[in-house]
Amino acid sequence: MQVLAVASEIFPLIKTGGLADVVGGLPPALAHHGVEVRTLVPGYPSVLRALEGTTVVAEYGYFFGAFCKLLSGRAAGLDLFVLEAPQLFWREGNPYSGPDGQPWPDNSVRFAALAHMAYLIARGDFGPYVPDVLHAHDWQAALAPAYLHYGGRSRPRSVLTIHNLAFQGQFSRDLLYAIGLPGDAYSLDGVEYYGGIGYLKSGIRFADRVTTVSPRYAAEICQPGAGMGLDGLLRQKGLALSGIVNGIDVDTWNPADDPALAATYTADTLELRARNKAALEGRFALVPGDGPLIGLITRLSWQKGMDIVIEALPSIIAAGCRVVVLGTGDAPLEAALAKASAAHPGQIGVFAGYDENLAHLVQGGADAILVPSRFEPCGLTQLYGLRYGCLPIVSRVGGLFDTVIDANAAAREQGVATGIQFEPVTREALEAAIERFVALYADAPAWRAMQRQAMSLDLSWTRRAGAYAALFRSLVEVDSA
Ligand code: ADP
Ligand code: GLC
Repeated sequence: MQVLAVASEIFPLIKTGGLADVVGGLPPALAHHGVEVRTLVPGYPSVLRALEGTTVVAEYGYFFGAFCKLLSGRAAGLDLFVLEAPQLFWREGNPYSGPDGQPWPDNSVRFAALAHMAYLIARGDFGPYVPDVLHAHDWQAALAPAYLHYGGRSRPRSVLTIHNLAFQGQFSRDLLYAIGLPGDAYSLDGVEYYGGIGYLKSGIRFADRVTTVSPRYAAEICQPGAGMGLDGLLRQKGLALSGIVNGIDVDTWNPADDPALAATYTADTLELRARNKAALEGRFALVPGDGPLIGLITRLSWQKGMDIVIEALPSIIAAGCRVVVLGTGDAPLEAALAKASAAHPGQIGVFAGYDENLAHLVQGGADAILVPSRFEPCGLTQLYGLRYGCLPIVSRVGGLFDTVIDANAAAREQGVATGIQFEPVTREALEAAIERFVALYADAPAWRAMQRQAMSLDLSWTRRAGAYAALFRSLVEVDSA
């Protein structure tokens, strides 16, 4: 079975968050389930530099206002189609925003072009390649099912995966013709969304199946509030909406063989983690010590609950913990963290930046990874934490709810606890969770047992991808039945 995936990020070529990890991690895992994936991505500089065995599939003098080529090739073991359109995508740095941090003003056209190219490939313009299923990720790709619909195509079948409902891609209605949609598409039952064109809305409306990255988040987004304006439409999807928890790349994230660590280790050599902790203390200029060390690796944003962490920092330090934060994002949060770090020298270490290797060292050296999100479609940092025995302290929402087993009495007795959950997302509840953490950590044998339990879980994509393979097959089998 052939699947054409389309997305705006793919690890290891271009990444701003978990989306890239998923888009890069699924194809090799799906191959184990007999599903061949080719992924269409924009021709960012980092993608074009990495592309090998390139062939030009098609060339357009004018495509969404730009000269463009459709390339095919391979990079980092992935089969890719690349939309090379220098006017749209030859921009260094963040794929969505300029050096001033503001979204590029032409994002509407850039990602409509991407989705439209997916549609052209999907409908067979570049045969003999014709996919059985089109798999679009997030708003940047979400117009693809709409193009199929308005192009009069019911094949291939389409799946939209929502990684984050907070990013919806909403643009002016004036763009309708420029992005190649017919006049009648502008209706409540079409692409119209609150007086504009909603890209994610369109994908939800027209995809044959909608998935999100955990069952809990799938249920949450059908409620007003968490549904962020789309809950009505999501409820209408009924059984066509489901949740599949993300896997992780267990080779890239493997404490037994991780070049970013000061010392590699397994569940049987957990004492070696102390060397990574020492390396972390050095990197973050912390006072050395045996006390509990909490790590955060995160976008600094409202979603991630960072404002609450900042409020709670004095009590977290008073409880005997030290904290390291690796994150970038909202400037006021960055400033507040820098201030907190200066107020607690040697206790709070902050690295305001993006550093993949340092993320690995935090997972390998901290005792717990804190993820206090207000909402979390899946979350990957807690999964990496489980794999590294860096036990997650998480809010009880979305994928955090689905992937961490709280250390309540029953779970501990049965040996299945893997972390700490708390709710609601308030300073008080977070502080109570930290108290529970400190007490559990002090019980060294119990803590070790939880670490071993967490590290024994199979979080691999190979296992999770089976659910996607089954979904794709169910769509194709309906056709051939
Ligand atoms: P989201 O995609 O919402 O940001 P996820 O938990 O799904 O959240 O994925 C975040 C990914 O980005 C993880 O791979 C995490 O390690 C990585 N990450 C986030 N912030 C940083 C940072 N400052 N430096 C390095 N990696 C980061
Ligand atoms: C989004 C979500 C995150 C999820 C990731 C990958 O960025 O915020 O929860 O893990 O996508 O699916």
